[in-house]
Amino acid sequence: MKISVSPTVPSAIATPLLVLAAASTGDEKTPSAELLAVDAQLLALAAPLLSGGDVTGKFAEAVWLLAPSGISAQRVLFIGAGKKASFGLPELRKLAGAAARAAKAKNIKEFTLVLPSGLDLSTAAVAATEGVVTGDFDVDVYRSERKDQSLLEVTLAIPQEADAKAVFMAVAEGAVLAESQNLTRELALEPGNKMTPTILANRAREMSEEAGLTCEIHGPGKIKELGMGAFWSVAQGSEEEPRLVVLRYEPEGAREDLVLGLVGKGITFDSGGISLKPGDGMEKMKYDMTGAATMIGAMRAIAMLRPKVRVLAVLCCTENMPDGKAQKPGDVQIAMNGKSIEVINTDAEGRLVLADGLCYARQLGATHLIDAATLTGAVVVALGYHNVGVFSNDDAMATEFLSAASREGEKMWRLPVEQDYFDHIRSEIADIKNTGGRWGGAITAAMFLKEFVADKPWVHLDVAGTAWMEEAKAWMPKGPSGVAVRSIVNYARHLAEQG
Ligand code: BES
Ligand code: MN
Ligand code: ZN
Repeated sequence: MKISVSPTVPSAIATPLLVLAAASTGDEKTPSAELLAVDAQLLALAAPLLSGGDVTGKFAEAVWLLAPSGISAQRVLFIGAGKKASFGLPELRKLAGAAARAAKAKNIKEFTLVLPSGLDLSTAAVAATEGVVTGDFDVDVYRSERKDQSLLEVTLAIPQEADAKAVFMAVAEGAVLAESQNLTRELALEPGNKMTPTILANRAREMSEEAGLTCEIHGPGKIKELGMGAFWSVAQGSEEEPRLVVLRYEPEGAREDLVLGLVGKGITFDSGGISLKPGDGMEKMKYDMTGAATMIGAMRAIAMLRPKVRVLAVLCCTENMPDGKAQKPGDVQIAMNGKSIEVINTDAEGRLVLADGLCYARQLGATHLIDAATLTGAVVVALGYHNVGVFSNDDAMATEFLSAASREGEKMWRLPVEQDYFDHIRSEIADIKNTGGRWGGAITAAMFLKEFVADKPWVHLDVAGTAWMEEAKAWMPKGPSGVAVRSIVNYARHLAEQG
């Protein structure tokens, strides 16, 4: 999709579809709405719709107007922006996504979105671009009669006196972020037979070659040689070979004593292993590699936006399968840092692969750690499908990460990491065990990971409830969300500015 910027009076734009944001300004008793764009012709056109209550400004409401008179567009779409007083970048991002989805549904491949007034133009252009590009994502790639509904061109209309070059730079940035988020979604969408550890690693290499990162891929030999007993214990039961992937971004002039280490859970299919999952819903476990896909998306954006900070990513890619060679409940494994782990449940495999991934990221020089994983069903119980679970051993890093997430409009919520919870993962025969019982399951999983980060500031993201949208939204189809990619990139850029 091409995104262009046009400093033109909106009513003069010849386009198949002109999209305008309408915000609600009244309350329940006296509803009223207004357009978030100023142009006499458009105001005249919209006046009867606004006063007649056809356009209410209710969030994501879509009202079409065909063959409008007095302007050059063939159609107008009024998209609800919600309450004017609370309209901001997150609303704009979603509104732009809703516009893209509404256009695609009618097979309109080109439209012009008038950037709403009242926001900083460049940040608005970033958000609108992100919305349009993420809204353009298609999930039905395996339908044999699939029609390509991708958008061809979207134009952002800005005021005539605006600095079009600055806005265009903002568009380019928004496109990098959103395309990277879409790459994560594309990888997460693939079924287990089309996204094996080997394929996932190759996709990481492909991305690295395009974006200019270094990429190393290791197999079982190196995993065992490094002493990754926890990672290997998950991989040993699968016919598909595991892959350990390391991506490096080392910009010139960046501090050498500051390295952000990203670690991703890359379980390309989680059957549960010998502690086999119930059949109902097991197909969903194809997206158990979303953590690794998240880091691939984030590294792509980082490589293209070039913040002055070193970043490396460690991806632990394997299946979790039952087999004669698979690990058994009760087995004891030794992780890379020498800690012994009693495996109570082979379905708590994410923490096993991440344990070694975190150790390895430190060995490679990471000073700050972020991991992302579809780690626990318990985080879904705690936070539902609306917030990413955030865990950290460092208040300053957690606060900075949460600010980055809020700048990106990604909802995340911090849960405690406290020694009280550690008692639940004490083992009778080893240093720790890999499950902590039913209560506080997302937290005991985080306590387990904490054993492998040593003294490094660390943020753990449990995206089990947010990686996959179970319901379609006006701005996003059902399916992989790509959540956390933009927040991680934003945090890395913030670290670069501070460093
Ligand atoms: N991959 C699952 C967690 C998951 C659940 C991801 C729902 C996405 C949606 C993870 O490996 C797992 O099986 N966790 C177990 C841990 C338990 C055995 C301690 C769980 O949450 O049930
Ligand atoms: Mn599992
Ligand atoms: Zn899993």
